[in-house]
Amino acid sequence: MNKLAIDVKRLTKEFQIDKDKSISVLKDISLSVFYGEFISILGISGSGKTTLLNCMSSLSRPTTGEVTINGKNPYKLKNRDLAKVRREEISFIFQSYNLVPSLPVFENIVLPLRLSHKKVDKTKVLGLLKKLRFNAELDSLVGNLSGGEQQKVAICRAILSECKIIFADEPTGAMDSESRQLIFELLRKLANDGKCVIMVTHDIELASQTDKAFILRDGLLSEEIDKPSSSVLYHKLETKQSD
Ligand SMILES: Nc1ncnc2c1ncn2[C@@H]1O[C@H](COP(=O)(O)OP(=O)(O)OP(=O)(O)O)[C@@H](O)[C@H]1O
Ligand SMILES: [Mg+2]
Repeated sequence: MNKLAIDVKRLTKEFQIDKDKSISVLKDISLSVFYGEFISILGISGSGKTTLLNCMSSLSRPTTGEVTINGKNPYKLKNRDLAKVRREEISFIFQSYNLVPSLPVFENIVLPLRLSHKKVDKTKVLGLLKKLRFNAELDSLVGNLSGGEQQKVAICRAILSECKIIFADEPTGAMDSESRQLIFELLRKLANDGKCVIMVTHDIELASQTDKAFILRDGLLSEEIDKPSSSVLYHKLETKQSD
């Protein structure tokens, strides 16, 4: 059995939306993810996928419950140690890309490397961009790129940071089907090489190529499916939404 990467125990998340009103978005979620695994998280819009990813990845403190990343609870770490975990152990591909719009493509990609004083290998960056079929200029400002191009910059940045845990929130949302499969293959390779990839997606075809799918519904983890087939996923998502 591979080593445990992420462990979530009895996690809940509430948002205070008014002085005396809060909403419960995640209820009693427990799950474990191992190195070498490629996990998908599915659920209808608003089901809490991004919230769960944020709680699992040190970005949003759960209301109750425990999260451990590589054996450490990020919400109990001192700021300095937390910053180190974020820099060295996890990378994110955000639903909203989280790039710096006023910086060029190349600087956005190598930003995490510069922050952790790692070597920047321009040939490697160019090679990966080529693999991703990235067609814009390296010195274009990221704010001027299309959604799909920005997503490729975010993916390139996450892959080059060489962290062992990759969180990807809808990494192929803005892409055509060819690019979607291409990016999926890159993420698949990371998992095959022993990394842990956790991907939120609406794409059943891609989810059916992951090792395990978690389906969120009404704040609960309604299904955990090993080696999911697309027909099982269609069925589970359809019946879950209409009943
Ligand atoms: N900071 C916040 N404050 C209040 N409510 C929030 C906050 N963040 C998320 N929510 C609510 O929590 C619920 C889940 O949101 P979340 O973004 O996790 O859904 P999602 O499954 O990622 O949706 P999508 O597929 O559209 O990205 C939604 O009802 C949303 O409005
Ligand atoms: Mg989301």
